[in-house]
Amino acid sequence: MRQIWITRAGPPEVLEVKEAASDPEPKSGEVRIRVEASGVNFADILGRMGLYPDLPPIPVVPGYEVAGRVDAAAAGLDDWVGRDVVAMTRFGGYADIVCVPVKQLFARPAGMSALEGAALPVNYFTAWQLIVVMGGLKRNETVLVHSAGGGVGIAATQIAKHLGARVIGTASAAKHAELRALGVDDLIDYRTEDFETRARQITGGRGVDLILDPVGGESWRKGYRLLAPAGRLGAYGLSAAAAGKARSLIGTLTVLGRIPWFQFNPLGLMGANKGVFGVNLGHMWGEIDRIREWADRLFDLWKQGVVKPKIAKTFRFNEAVQAHHFIQDRRNIGKVLLVP
Ligand SMILES: NC(=O)c1ccc[n+]([C@@H]2O[C@H](COP(=O)([O-])OP(=O)(O)OC[C@H]3O[C@@H](n4cnc5c(N)ncnc54)[C@H](OP(=O)(O)O)[C@@H]3O)[C@@H](O)[C@H]2O)c1
Repeated sequence: MRQIWITRAGPPEVLEVKEAASDPEPKSGEVRIRVEASGVNFADILGRMGLYPDLPPIPVVPGYEVAGRVDAAAAGLDDWVGRDVVAMTRFGGYADIVCVPVKQLFARPAGMSALEGAALPVNYFTAWQLIVVMGGLKRNETVLVHSAGGGVGIAATQIAKHLGARVIGTASAAKHAELRALGVDDLIDYRTEDFETRARQITGGRGVDLILDPVGGESWRKGYRLLAPAGRLGAYGLSAAAAGKARSLIGTLTVLGRIPWFQFNPLGLMGANKGVFGVNLGHMWGEIDRIREWADRLFDLWKQGVVKPKIAKTFRFNEAVQAHHFIQDRRNIGKVLLVP
């Protein structure tokens, strides 16, 4: 078995491919997957930088999702052997062989490639929880999608357009033409323009109904102000903390200092008719049955051509360092994958 390890906290170069002495065997309730693709998520990058509290102690093999074929199973699960699957992994997904509990396993619909499969769980489950489950987005409402060119951003745009909403996206300028073609109605280059001012202009001064914000810090403060009456702000990440490619105490403290710790108090929310909620898919392990229902809906939407995972680029395992650079250089439009 080959795995990609975070050997210590630091820049992408701390990632190393290592060969394990033997392949893992599925324990009771588990199947073993020959991995054909592993998803790279921003959380892996924060983890590599030593900024992700959920990551088990370093050295560690990161990775939340894989797609491949089951090649062995514990007693009673033989039906799975030979099937093409997608799985959520509780870390350890950067590997060419993984064992996972059957609850975290999803049969891949006929015709869905391993690349599409590996691009789906984290991005689409997160977007679904933000937009449908907690954000309650409705036809003709306006949603502001930050990091619109990222994996979650593109998933969110597809779901929001399907619901009949208007999408305003923020992204680096080089991505705008392609994101427009992918369905984003209005784009803001938040690195050169103030997104709050621009979004207010775009909405004729009204503000927006739903905001999906994984940037955090000052961005949450501005987003809250930008909400229209009955608007909702979904906080689901803190990418602003990744100021460089290695951990910077001063950079992190600056971002933490800009979080509006006291602004969203109950009386303030009530008086303003605004809602604030948070999403962390990595803390939903106790809700797998619900997530399985979301997966059924999303696989149906995939069959209808609504859900279309966009692969930005695939990297071989020995190019994992470049994969992390590629994301941190803000070059990805869509999902970045590792293939063994
Ligand atoms: N809470 C959850 O359950 C959950 C689940 C999945 C993802 N997330 C969060 O959602 C965000 C997007 O995740 P993703 O996996 O979809 O990532 P991704 O697609 O790979 O997004 C990377 C993009 O984020 C933008 N970005 C914003 N700040 C950045 C920074 N400081 N350094 C580098 N890039 C930055 C860049 O695009 P632009 O320059 O175009 O903005 C970059 O291309 C991340 O913050 C992640 O932690 C949260």
